[in-house]
Amino acid sequence: MATDHAGITPAPGALPIVGHLFPLLRDPLRFLNTLPSYGDLVQIRLGPQRAVVVCRPDLVQQVLLHDRTYDKGGPIIERIGNALGDGLASCPHSTHRRQRRSVQPAFSRTCLREYATIMTEQIDALTTSWSDGRTVDVAEQMYTLASNTIAQTLFTAEAAEPAVETVKECLPDIFRGIYQQAVLPPWLHRLPLPSNLRYERARNRAWAAVSKTISLYRQDGQTHGDVLSMLLKAHDDTGGALSDAEIHAQIMTLLVAGIESTAVAVTWAVHLLCQWPDVQERLRTETAEVLGTRTATWDDLPQLDLARRVITETLRLYPPGWILTRTTTTEARLADAVIPPETTLIYSPYLIHHDARFNPHPSSFDPDRWLPERQHVRGTFIPFGGGARKCIGDNYALTLATMALSTIVARWRLSHVDVQLPRIEPRVTLNPHKVQVRVDCLEPARD
Ligand code: HEM
Repeated sequence: MATDHAGITPAPGALPIVGHLFPLLRDPLRFLNTLPSYGDLVQIRLGPQRAVVVCRPDLVQQVLLHDRTYDKGGPIIERIGNALGDGLASCPHSTHRRQRRSVQPAFSRTCLREYATIMTEQIDALTTSWSDGRTVDVAEQMYTLASNTIAQTLFTAEAAEPAVETVKECLPDIFRGIYQQAVLPPWLHRLPLPSNLRYERARNRAWAAVSKTISLYRQDGQTHGDVLSMLLKAHDDTGGALSDAEIHAQIMTLLVAGIESTAVAVTWAVHLLCQWPDVQERLRTETAEVLGTRTATWDDLPQLDLARRVITETLRLYPPGWILTRTTTTEARLADAVIPPETTLIYSPYLIHHDARFNPHPSSFDPDRWLPERQHVRGTFIPFGGGARKCIGDNYALTLATMALSTIVARWRLSHVDVQLPRIEPRVTLNPHKVQVRVDCLEPARD
């Protein structure tokens, strides 16, 4: 196989001008999974731009741990920055530690315990709204659950409700737009294509809704015991670690980073439980013992062992954040290659999780691979990234997902309506297009 500059093997099949655009839009997962067979570092083309895909777990760790050299950047991060402002997920290394210190307290264990009360209420409202024998669009229902829960965590004031509704409506177009623009050549972003216009409109509406909520909070001057109040108070009391624009960016980022990824994770978990009824029954034995038919709470979490393993295995098979980018700030040595400054690097949790060299039988759904006695190679499970830029909401997401899945299984028997597997839509998250599930009630009928 020929090698390009810096000794990195190019992936075959690049077309003039568009590069690997077609496989990246049509079937990106299959395309990604072919790459490790060409080398540990493989060059692909996004239009005229080159990018290096890092295909070995230890090299991905090197990239994640040295975030000054491998800084946030590259097309996906640039588009996230464009959509949300320079918040935690896209800001450069130079401002990251300060931003992270300001937001981290909102994700402490004490706060998480409080958020779990909101989670229990929302899970209860959703799972008691279903009726026996009904077909449920799981993706849509989990999106409602995650958006209501996360929005309430960020802003509890009633005045924020219209903004929450607007952001919920806009997010799908924002996600689709970020991915499409990241893989399309930049000159196409400016054309008045329907997809570009939809993205711009959604982004502007969400942006304005969050701005309005921040002004409302400032005007009423009260503390609402939520994340926005906390960020504003820190800003006002101390002269502010975060500027107003940064507070706006954090709220947009937490909404966007938190809602869809968590919703997608629980949706895939429900899909897998329908595909593997024996695991569903095992999980029901656990939930029957721990919950009966009541809604899960924070205190139940230590006993919901299998539920947690099902979520972990789901995140391995279908990591919502499946493709992420970095940019080298200086010349870097990775494996045997010398990588020039300003090179785009790609790491993909999906690719790493599905590499049979590190995960035996990577396509099979086996929650027991996460039993404590089973060994794993370091860096082969990275659904939340790693290093200083690791997901700030990982425990939030795991808590909500575990509680939601257990409660659903405790109350409802789940079965697929469609025999076909859900189509995967390549967005910023690994999105199942439609998961239609029949829910049959397990509770004795209430009079
Ligand atoms: C299952 C659910 C989730 C998954 C799979 C996930 C995945 C990820 C990944 C892979 C990253 C690292 C991105 C990179 O390396 O470029 C990340 C970062 C981040 N996530 Fe999550 N996430 C989830 C839920 C959440 C939630 C619930 C929130 C907040 C409410 C959140 C907020 C963030 C933020 C702010 C960052 C940037 C952190 C930083 O750079 O300091 N995520 N997430």
